[in-house]
Amino acid sequence: MNMIKQSLCNFISWVDARYPLLKTWNEHLAKYYVPKNFNFWYFFGALALLVLVIQIVTGIWLTMNYKPSAEEAFASVEYIMRDVEWGWLVRYLHSTGSSAFFIVIYLHMFRALLYGSFKKPRELLWCTGMFIYLTLMGEAFFGYLLPWGQMSYWGAQVIISLFAAIPIVGDGLAEWIRGDYVVSDVTLNRFFAFHVIAMPLILVGLVFVHIISLHEVGSNNPDGVDIKKHKDKNGIPLDGIPFHPYYTVKDIVGAIVFLILFSLVVFYAPEMGGYFLEHANFVPADPLQTPEHIAPVWYFTPFYAILRAIPSQLWGVIAMGLAVFMFFLLPWLDRSPVKSIRYRGYYYRIALTAFVISFVCLGWLGMQAATPMYSWLSRLFTVIYFLFFVLMPFYTSIDRDKPVPERVTAP
Ligand code: HEM
Repeated sequence: MNMIKQSLCNFISWVDARYPLLKTWNEHLAKYYVPKNFNFWYFFGALALLVLVIQIVTGIWLTMNYKPSAEEAFASVEYIMRDVEWGWLVRYLHSTGSSAFFIVIYLHMFRALLYGSFKKPRELLWCTGMFIYLTLMGEAFFGYLLPWGQMSYWGAQVIISLFAAIPIVGDGLAEWIRGDYVVSDVTLNRFFAFHVIAMPLILVGLVFVHIISLHEVGSNNPDGVDIKKHKDKNGIPLDGIPFHPYYTVKDIVGAIVFLILFSLVVFYAPEMGGYFLEHANFVPADPLQTPEHIAPVWYFTPFYAILRAIPSQLWGVIAMGLAVFMFFLLPWLDRSPVKSIRYRGYYYRIALTAFVISFVCLGWLGMQAATPMYSWLSRLFTVIYFLFFVLMPFYTSIDRDKPVPERVTAP
C-alpha cells in the first residue's frame, strides 16, 4: 500500500515539475477561499456544469445514430428510441437535459438578482454569463430542428422569418440563414453543424472564461459583503473556507438531489405533458401543412410573448431582442450601494417580485393562442418587464436600504 502511495506521489511530483498541477489544484480548489455562508441558491453554478457535461456526453452518443438529412432525420430519432440499445434513455436524458439546463440557469441568474452578484466588481462575470445564456439559446434553437418533427420545422420557419422583418436586408438575411427559400435539408445540415460543434465549443470556452473571471474577483454571498476586507495574519479571509473539501462535499449533495429529481422526470414524465417534448413534434415535418398552434419550448415563451404582444412585427422583434439585452445593463442600472436583497429597501423587493411575476406570466401567455385578452395581458406584463429595468436607476437610488453588517451572518 505504502509503495503504491509512494509511486503515486513520485508520479505527481514528476508531472508537477512539468505542468502546474498542484498549483492549479491549490489556487482553484484546496486553497481557494469562498464565503462560508453559501445557501441553496449557490448550488446552481455547479449544477449547470453537471448538466453541461450530461448534454455533451449524451449528445455524442445520439450523434452516433442520428442522420442529419431531411429524408432520414425523423426516422433516425425513432430508430434511436426503439431499436438502439438504451437509445431511448440517451435521448430522454438529452431532451430532459435541455429543459433542466434552462431551469438551472434561470435559478442561477435569479440568485444574482437576489444578492446583487452582477454589481461591481462582478460586472464582467455577469456579462460572460449573459454571453453563455445567448449561446445556450442558440444551441437549444439549432437542436430543436434536428428531430425534424412538425414543431421543429414550423418553429424554425417562424423564428427565421422574423429576420425578414428587418427593412431592406431582411429577406436576403432570412434566405442566407436558411440557405434556401424555405427551411429545408440545407438548413437542417447547417443547424446540425452549429448544434454539435460550433455552439458547444463556444459554450465550453465561455464557461472557462466565466470560471476564471469568478476566481479573479471571488464569489459574492447571501449577505453581499466582501469577505476580503477582513483577513487573518496569513492573508486568509476570516469568513472564508477552502472550496475543497467544504463546497465539493456540499455540491455533491446538491448533485445527488438534482440527479434524483432529474431521473424521476426522465423515467416517469420525459415529455412533461408536452412542455419538454411537444406533442406536435411526434409528427414528421410536413412543409405543406402548418400545425394549428405554433409555440416554442417553455424556456423561450416569455420572449415569444413579448414578440407577439407588439402588433408591428419589426417592433416586436426589436422588443424581444431588447428584453434579453436589458440584462447586460443591470450592473450599470442598479445604483444601490447595497448588494443583497436582505438589506435592500422595499422598492427593489417590490420591483423584483413584479418582474418575476411578469416573466412567469409572459412564459405562460407565450404558450397560449393569441386571443385579444391574452394579447392585452401580454402587453401589460411586457410593460412591467421593461419598467423593472428602465426605472431601476431611480428606485434603487431612492430606496431605504438597511445597514449592511461588516462580516457575514448565518446562511
Ligand atoms: C453553462 C452555464 C453556466 C455555468 C456552468 C456557470 C457556472 C458557474 C459557477 C460554477 C459559479 C460559482 C458557483 C455559484 O455561484 O453558483 C458561477 C457563478 C456566477 N455565475 Fe454562472 N454559470 C453559467 C451561466 C451563467 C449565466 C447565464 C449567468 C448570468 C447571466 C451567470 C452569472 C453568474 C454570476 C453573477 C456568478 C457569481 C455569483 C455570486 O458569486 O453570487 N452564470 N457560475
